[in-house]
Amino acid sequence: LSTTEVDVSAIQPGQAIKASFRKQPLFVRNLTPDEINQANAVDVASLRDPQSLKDRTKAGKTNWLVTLGVCTHLGCVPLGAGEGENKGPFGGYFCPCHGSAYDTAGRIRSGPAPKNLAVPEYVFSNDTTIVVG
Ligand code: FES
Repeated sequence: LSTTEVDVSAIQPGQAIKASFRKQPLFVRNLTPDEINQANAVDVASLRDPQSLKDRTKAGKTNWLVTLGVCTHLGCVPLGAGEGENKGPFGGYFCPCHGSAYDTAGRIRSGPAPKNLAVPEYVFSNDTTIVVG
């Protein structure tokens, strides 16, 4: 299976980009300190799909949130990875199809989706490049 290399050097804190990985949308987001605090302030046990931000990011790189851009309800592409797009009530991503809202860790917080946005296998090959797959 193929891997995808993403140069993250131009992604500013607070920004997310949409790339693609094996023909699926891939979101790469550079979280601000506020967004990280917001994610860490949530009681993990209260979540529908209990995971901490730490579970969903790489050690020492918790500001980089890498997920598939595929809603876990019925597969629409959520909004929030792009300039001025609707991040929804939890500040992460928002799926306009049936209103699933994801938080700044890409975790499902309201609406019909059962699971957090999937985190694919990836590594940092250097400080500004991730290799997905
Ligand atoms: Fe996203 Fe239904 S596909 S809420």
